[in-house]
Amino acid sequence: MTDSPSPHEISEQAAAAVKKAVTAIGAASSLAELEAARVQFLGKKSEISGLLKSLGKVPADARRDVGRSINDAKKLVETTLNEQKETLQSAGQSSSADPAFDPTLPGIRARLGRRHPLMTTMDEIKNLLIGLGFRYDDYPEVETEFFNFDALNTPDWHPARDLHDTFYTESDHVLRTHTSAFQVRAMKQFSPPPIRAMTSGRCYRCDAIDASHFPIFHQLDAIAIDRSISFADLKSTLYELAAGLFGKDVTLRFRPSYFPFTTPSAEVDVLFGSKWLEILGAGMMRPEVLRSGGLDPSQWQGFAFGLGVDRMTMIRHGIDDIRLLYENDERFLMQF
Ligand code: DAH
Repeated sequence: MTDSPSPHEISEQAAAAVKKAVTAIGAASSLAELEAARVQFLGKKSEISGLLKSLGKVPADARRDVGRSINDAKKLVETTLNEQKETLQSAGQSSSADPAFDPTLPGIRARLGRRHPLMTTMDEIKNLLIGLGFRYDDYPEVETEFFNFDALNTPDWHPARDLHDTFYTESDHVLRTHTSAFQVRAMKQFSPPPIRAMTSGRCYRCDAIDASHFPIFHQLDAIAIDRSISFADLKSTLYELAAGLFGKDVTLRFRPSYFPFTTPSAEVDVLFGSKWLEILGAGMMRPEVLRSGGLDPSQWQGFAFGLGVDRMTMIRHGIDDIRLLYENDERFLMQF
């Protein structure tokens, strides 16, 4: 039995056969060449088949291990063959040899998704305010009544609270009715001042749906607190923001107004053609609100403003119905 190979030699031969096979299969550039490689490396006369036949001469105690190593080798060659077959087939499909494919025709641009106009407007406002030194953070949409109302000088007997048509959750929270709910959170988070902070995102009110009302809408709120912050600082910040959004020659109008959390308060309109369009609410933070945030109103002053991102988007793009922003109608969305 001197001429029969040892178990070790058989395993080595199997490994060498695999090496040769893998190289040859990788070099096959057509399905015909691949089939030839299959016959050569796995066919009846192949080296691997020969090794399997010699298994009978291997001593019984080593037969299992040697058999396994030959079978592993065979499987590896099969896997390599299948992979190369897929590669060749997929290359063939897109190859210009396909008479149905004419590479000289002009391309058709893929219909990719695009950014929603609400998000584009929101990002622009955010970036303008970041440029003015405001930090941006997200805050909870499911909010406590405290941060949404009480902390903002709106206790539950306050008439303004009814106007908000609030959605309540079962666990005694509300869906925030305005992003102003972030103000006292931010004060607690970033004290001591100076603080310049903003947030934006979804707000909810139980409104009947029409062309200008939707139960979900988007706001952006910002606050600035320091030792000496005046209404003039608020005005210059808002002019800077409006110039970035509507151009340098923008004209704003400040109308006296009322909000429970600011005094004095203003609503701000932008002159659009010959029309004044309201874009935001603003004012100097009330002492009660500063106190809610743990700040002494004799030491600190602040301004706040909040704007409707939906309304801003509608003004900029001439959109006359808020529902278009929420219906996800492709005919509408593809225009941006
Ligand atoms: N939260 C107000 C609203 O939803 C808007 C607003 C007004 C926000 C004045 C403010 C502010 O920060 O100072 O109508």
